[in-house]
Amino acid sequence: MIEKTASHPDPWRAVDAQPSAETMAAALEVRGGTPSQVRLRRRYLKWLPVRARDRVLEVGCGTGVVARDLASLVGRGGVVTAVDTSATLLARARALSRRVPGGRIAFRRADGHRLPFADGRFDAVLAITVILHVEDPLRVVKEMARVARPGGRVGLQDQDFGLIGAAHPDRELTARILDGVAARIYPEPHSGRRLGALLRAAGLIGVRMLADVYQDTTLTPFSRNFLERRAENAVRFGIVDEAAAERWLDGFNALYAADNFVLTMQYFGAAGVKPAKARP
Ligand SMILES: C[S@@+](CC[C@H](N)C(=O)[O-])C[C@H]1O[C@@H](n2cnc3c(N)ncnc32)[C@H](O)[C@@H]1O
Repeated sequence: MIEKTASHPDPWRAVDAQPSAETMAAALEVRGGTPSQVRLRRRYLKWLPVRARDRVLEVGCGTGVVARDLASLVGRGGVVTAVDTSATLLARARALSRRVPGGRIAFRRADGHRLPFADGRFDAVLAITVILHVEDPLRVVKEMARVARPGGRVGLQDQDFGLIGAAHPDRELTARILDGVAARIYPEPHSGRRLGALLRAAGLIGVRMLADVYQDTTLTPFSRNFLERRAENAVRFGIVDEAAAERWLDGFNALYAADNFVLTMQYFGAAGVKPAKARP
């Protein structure tokens, strides 16, 4: 049964238990529509690759940003199955995918640690910005490998919170907030760079990696939301006081006003192939 509590510091572990679940759903759509994010997501899906007529499974689909792209890549001859633990996000995903062209999308409530599918059912199985959030990443990736067909692809893409490039007049404060918050929320803040090793540990072969970067010089709503949540959490975790958090955000606003705002966030994609015969 999918029943989680709100107690873990990472709200994405248990979206339905958060008072801000609807705001989180809206934030996924804002991120999904941000041009630099669209580019890096679609580049990754083509690189994996996802092909016409594929049967694809997406684990941790959220509001369906990736699933809608997948539907257009697999076309009418393909099928997209998309699972998530959150009923709130799935309801939003179903509503937003109603008139999407391409392959059919079937949304289903399920936990990536225990996928409710038979072995070998999918041509490609992927998880985008999910592995960072799950309790047991290796178990999730092994489940993804189990439901991929022999010769099928398993793909992961994640941010790496050790690789954020933020222009700010106070470098020490910036490092304290960004590194401190990431260390308290995620068991592995450097998840991105370790995705290839995770695929190999799950028994996949021919593992490749694709580094990419989110780049923003315009203080997009996604970047603003990211920085504001980091500031809020830095106060919540006792890393800085409210005055310092406010000073930190003011620093970004001043850079933006002078046309000097810069935020980059490194993403890593990884892909592996399920061997024809499972290793003993
Ligand atoms: C940051 S969101 C990414 C959503 C989507 N992949 C995207 O890129 O827009 C992380 C998602 O993983 C889901 N999630 C977290 N733990 C999960 C688990 N154990 N099994 C399946 N989904 C999970 C969350 O509910 C959330 O929708």
